[in-house]
Amino acid sequence: MPDRGIDPAFEKGSAYVDGTIVPIEEAKVPLLDWGFLRSDACQETISVWDGSFFRLSDHLDRFHRSIQRLRMDTAPVERADVLRVAHELVAACGFRDAYVQIIMTRGRPPIGSRDLRLCSNRFQAFCMPYMWVADPKKQETGMALHISRRVRVPAQSVDPLVKHYHWLDFEMGLLEAYENGADTVVLSDLNGNITEGPGFNVFAVIDGSLRTPSSGMLDGMTRRTVMELCSELNVAVVEENISFERFLKASEIFLTTTAGGIIPVSSVNGTTVGSGGVGEQTRRIHHSYWHKRSNGWYGEPVVYTHKASSVRKSH
Ligand SMILES: Cc1ncc(COP(=O)(O)O)c(C=O)c1O
Repeated sequence: MPDRGIDPAFEKGSAYVDGTIVPIEEAKVPLLDWGFLRSDACQETISVWDGSFFRLSDHLDRFHRSIQRLRMDTAPVERADVLRVAHELVAACGFRDAYVQIIMTRGRPPIGSRDLRLCSNRFQAFCMPYMWVADPKKQETGMALHISRRVRVPAQSVDPLVKHYHWLDFEMGLLEAYENGADTVVLSDLNGNITEGPGFNVFAVIDGSLRTPSSGMLDGMTRRTVMELCSELNVAVVEENISFERFLKASEIFLTTTAGGIIPVSSVNGTTVGSGGVGEQTRRIHHSYWHKRSNGWYGEPVVYTHKASSVRKSH
């Protein structure tokens, strides 16, 4: 822990619940909140690296979009308030590298009613130490990917541009991946095209070109960042449908996520990708991403002196 006079109760993280910042282990959601009972919620996950938020403003824009698409009330999430809470959460635990999640839940209707229009939507948030889909050591060898025949919840049913918690398909797919000796999973759409995985988007070099799915997935912030990076590096990216069969022929594959950046993949369904190590394009994009981030690219420094009036003192 950095020496910032941090209350030890916040060593594992902080949470913002009902207008108060509390140690993360003490944070609770009400049983009757439809965020819990119905997965009726949206969220945004933002990274803090070396003391700076990454693309904070873009994340707030996407959060706002999710809230509007779920037809929730934007009043509990005034931009200035969400910004303040984000800074205060990180300041409360003093982390230099952190994982901040801001969440809007439907709330609950009055007892006896099932009318979601009567719910008061609730804003909550938490901060934990930075989390990796694959840590830097694992990134050197690459992840083993399992492509499941399980279908990602279709866009016709649940809008993939809302960053939501409909993850039972991913979770059952993950169990399938583990049973097959893989580290993680990617799901397809109803037409057999690759979509995304639990917390990440997918890129692949196929027939010499870098490609990424064009529909059925979240427009991840890291995906967007990679597109911008590729444009700077003069690497063309094709957004298109990628069938399971074509994906298996990729010479390079990487995953993109706030929780780890650019994650190389070394095998798919037990077959080695390319020559098995980290591919040339992947290495270049990975290097460029972290190099730029360490130079403050899209960074907004955390105000560590931002001591929340709302922090609850531990006893
Ligand atoms: C379903 C899904 N797809 C993609 C991503 C990657 O998005 P980002 O790069 O914004 O982290 C996430 C992130 O959690 C996700 O949940």
